[in-house]
Amino acid sequence: MHYNKKTVEDIDVSGKKVLLRCDFNVPRDKYTGRITDPGRVIAALPTIRYLLDHGAAVIACSHLGRPKGVWKPELSMAPVGELLTKELGIPVKIARDVVGPSARMLADTLIPGEIMLLENLRFHPEEEANDPLFARELASMADIFVTDAFGCVHRAHASTAGVAEYLPSVSGMLLNTEIRYLGDILDKPQKPLTAILGGSKVSDKLGVISNLLEKADALLIGGGMAFTFIKAQGGRIGRSICESDQMDYAREMLAKAERLGVKIYLPTDTVAATELAPNVDSSVVPSDDIYEDLMGLDIGPETSKAFCDVIAASRTVVWNGPMGVFEYPAFAKGTLAVAKAIADTDCVSIVGGGDSASAVREFGLEDRFTHISTGGGASLEFLEGKDLPGIACLDDKE
Ligand code: 3PG
Repeated sequence: MHYNKKTVEDIDVSGKKVLLRCDFNVPRDKYTGRITDPGRVIAALPTIRYLLDHGAAVIACSHLGRPKGVWKPELSMAPVGELLTKELGIPVKIARDVVGPSARMLADTLIPGEIMLLENLRFHPEEEANDPLFARELASMADIFVTDAFGCVHRAHASTAGVAEYLPSVSGMLLNTEIRYLGDILDKPQKPLTAILGGSKVSDKLGVISNLLEKADALLIGGGMAFTFIKAQGGRIGRSICESDQMDYAREMLAKAERLGVKIYLPTDTVAATELAPNVDSSVVPSDDIYEDLMGLDIGPETSKAFCDVIAASRTVVWNGPMGVFEYPAFAKGTLAVAKAIADTDCVSIVGGGDSASAVREFGLEDRFTHISTGGGASLEFLEGKDLPGIACLDDKE
């Protein structure tokens, strides 16, 4: 898979109305609604500023949460509009609807250098259904479609793919950066390439494991998903998380690695406890011999050291998924060690979105990574090598 899509810099946006799809699906405090991580909004600012500085009028849009076609005031885009106003230093006009009279009136009167924000796209069931009439209605407010919503490119929705049927369509700067960094991992990584996968479930990463085995020199597996592999090899994993229905797949992947000459590193020691709780006693035990009453909650020090040595010898590292339950300090050491080892090398370092990206930010190491993806599910599907509808729909460069 190789994308060669037009970007905002390849077209003339001056005097044009631009429908800009962003991924403003930001985490919010469940009681106050306050935005707890503005990362995705900040990441969209370069494209917004570029468009405004080059004489475009910007109609920004996004979804927030999963309202499933129902109008939910707590999922209004208004707080995102306020944050944008603060960051851009100019007023962001906030529409009270998506394709209704408020949106259309604001869009009609928007002049170059101005920006407005539509309400939550997913208040309409037509958005996720990729309804062509809804997509045409959205598109009719603008002259050009620009998408910077990398986190949503794996969704074939009206605002991510449908509108491209009706407008010239190009990528924004953030999307272009994501395509470049993640694409290079698949197409031309600096070798040796090490892939680090963690998180709790093998089933979330089926395609990624298989595809990365074909690209990488080494695969480090930590987090809960490692126990499915360890059990598949006959290990005793106590009460550790395990997907029994994925054990055949795990064996298949171990065999594939052997066939391709790729080394899979699994944890050899594990920090285990009787329950997942903040102040519970824990001990370090062999990963393939865990007592029945214990569960593995982090990689142990011997595994951390082995993983860090592999990382130090790599030229490219791609990481998706924490090594343990890093939200609890007692089980964060493995994830921290891996994050620090990557930060300490001068290799190309890419973090898939989701939990590992949050961990890197929480550890304050984000400036020491080459690229932290804004897409969780999207970065996984990209690394699986899938053709993604939100990118495939864009105009190719000549
Ligand atoms: C994300 O948060 O990964 C994107 O915004 C996509 O959201 P979704 O999984 O609800 O489609």
